[in-house]
Amino acid sequence: MAVYKLPFFLAIRVNSYKGGDMTNSLEQINKRTQWFRDARFGMFIHWGIYAIPARGEWVRSFDKIELDDYLKYMDQFDPVDYNPRAWAKAAKKAGMKYMVLTAKHHDGFCLFDSKYTDYKATNTKAGRDLVKEYVEAVRAEGLGVGLYFSLIDWSHKDFPKYKDIHSPHYKDKRFKDEKIDWDNYKNFLHKQIEEIVTNYGKLDILWFDFSYEDMYGDKWGAKEIVEMVRKYQPDVIMDNRLETSGEGFGSIVTENPSPYSGDFVSPEQILPYEGIKNIDGEDIPWELCLTMNNNWGYNANDKEFKSSKLLIRKLVECVSKNGNMLVNVGPTARGYMPKESLEILEDFGKWFDKNSESIYGCGKAKDLPKPDWGYYTQKDNVIYAHIFEAPIGPLPLIGLDKDEIDYMAYLYDGSEVTVSDSWVIKAYDKLTFAQIYPGSSTCQLPDDTDTVIKIVLKNNN
Ligand code: GLC
Repeated sequence: MAVYKLPFFLAIRVNSYKGGDMTNSLEQINKRTQWFRDARFGMFIHWGIYAIPARGEWVRSFDKIELDDYLKYMDQFDPVDYNPRAWAKAAKKAGMKYMVLTAKHHDGFCLFDSKYTDYKATNTKAGRDLVKEYVEAVRAEGLGVGLYFSLIDWSHKDFPKYKDIHSPHYKDKRFKDEKIDWDNYKNFLHKQIEEIVTNYGKLDILWFDFSYEDMYGDKWGAKEIVEMVRKYQPDVIMDNRLETSGEGFGSIVTENPSPYSGDFVSPEQILPYEGIKNIDGEDIPWELCLTMNNNWGYNANDKEFKSSKLLIRKLVECVSKNGNMLVNVGPTARGYMPKESLEILEDFGKWFDKNSESIYGCGKAKDLPKPDWGYYTQKDNVIYAHIFEAPIGPLPLIGLDKDEIDYMAYLYDGSEVTVSDSWVIKAYDKLTFAQIYPGSSTCQLPDDTDTVIKIVLKNNN
């Protein structure tokens, strides 16, 4: 395991990849992720039998539930309200361009019909392959099809128990002298991943989760996994968790990304204070994944949902830093999405209805300092001013010169916004201001969450 002497934000654990015929250059990564970086916004869905105890997806580990006791939830799993088309419609209406569903989480229960286990949705009252219906629905709505797949499987006899810090049986003396056949587990893991990449048509995203301690890279047979995935899904993009987790960046930020570095960094529950770059200062694709409340899987008692206003503003911040945002929904055991989640998605949709062009295909505004009233995003010669905080008086456009501006307009109604020539800015004659309150200083913005002004630059800029 080589740890490069990198600046702290690059301090990462990398595998000393011994070379081979599998290159993974930034050029290839950028080509593969172009659609993803244009999409900017997706829906994560954590769903499984853990929605029955309804205390989050780690309930088996946290509560140290015996496997036999946990398997009883299979008998209860009866998702009568499962309607993935409704899920996909809700995501699309919210402005999301792709979805990622947990085909299998750490508990090992498969929403898909795997030949390699009986621990699957087809053996519950659902009696069918729930992933198949999901991919068909997502595709029908024209969204990117993503599947999350857990590298960890606490239910498998050959997955470590006593020594594994995440296992429900960590330090459980009954397993102190456990004898496991790791090659058998690895083979099972590869076979199930092969099912995922061959049985459900074209996939757009494979979201592996997660590596830790000595469980990373070659331990999973990651190179063979990627070779196999690329054979069946040459254009699919993968996250970086075959070699790290939400805690690290992985070799994708080094000068020599491993074949299993993935195509994007996956910061979790933290928005990087600046974009993510590699050792040469080049932008690396990244995606913030976060929960709407405090849980990925459904938690009946967790009503601490973030406000729509906060989440919309965090999406803008991600895009202003060349990142994506993947917002999670944890459906109930019956299969419907919690009303609080649907309300947030509705609010996203209302904002996207008027402002989507300031997100899709956008990224960091070139050479502009972050304004204190909000954020800039940019696409080609159009800069978008996202105003979170109403200024007193005209809006300072620090870094922009009025001579480079062709015109400005509010996105919400298309009305013109002029360059201010108000007396109140006379002392700042070197700066450019937008006259955002024509004829008054109400300091009331049209959209209290994020009012967007489109700033079209003259083509020679
Ligand atoms: C963490 C959680 C896991 C969740 C993942 C999503 O790894 O442990 O339950 O699926 O984050 O990023």
